[in-house]
Amino acid sequence: MPISLTINGRPVTVDVTPEMPLLWVLRDHLNLKGTKFGCGIAQCGACTVHLGGVPVRSCSIPISAVAGQQITTIEGLGATALHPVQKAWEQVDVPQCGYCQAGQIMVAAALLKTKKNPTDAEIDAAMQNICRCGTYNRIRQASGRPCTAPRAR
Ligand code: FES
Ligand code: FES
Repeated sequence: MPISLTINGRPVTVDVTPEMPLLWVLRDHLNLKGTKFGCGIAQCGACTVHLGGVPVRSCSIPISAVAGQQITTIEGLGATALHPVQKAWEQVDVPQCGYCQAGQIMVAAALLKTKKNPTDAEIDAAMQNICRCGTYNRIRQASGRPCTAPRAR
């Protein structure tokens, strides 16, 4: 069944079953592999993308539920230049294995759109994605001060 939506500012139509998770469509049909599969049950956040600017877990959203809507993936976030959150991630050297990091960055970017200077408590409340490498301290550091020198802790 053809389903149309906008991904990273580009209109796309995919012909898939309506129940197919958005994550499958992104990775397997549109070759947008930056968004990762972790648990498949909306628990880890590796698959986070923005739906109308709001972070959502794409493994658990059927493609039919986002017909006609705007999706941004990690590829779209830094399409023309690195997003300030991506720069902060570089400055703080957040990643270890990197697998969870696209999802983490998407959550941080959404947080900083609504809160310019989030407190540690606000960061901790928003940044609930799982990192098996345990980079949580650096995630918090980079999320709190995008594009500036890391905070001393
Ligand atoms: S893969 Fe979607 S939340 Fe884990
Ligand atoms: S950096 Fe390895 S899972 Fe987060």
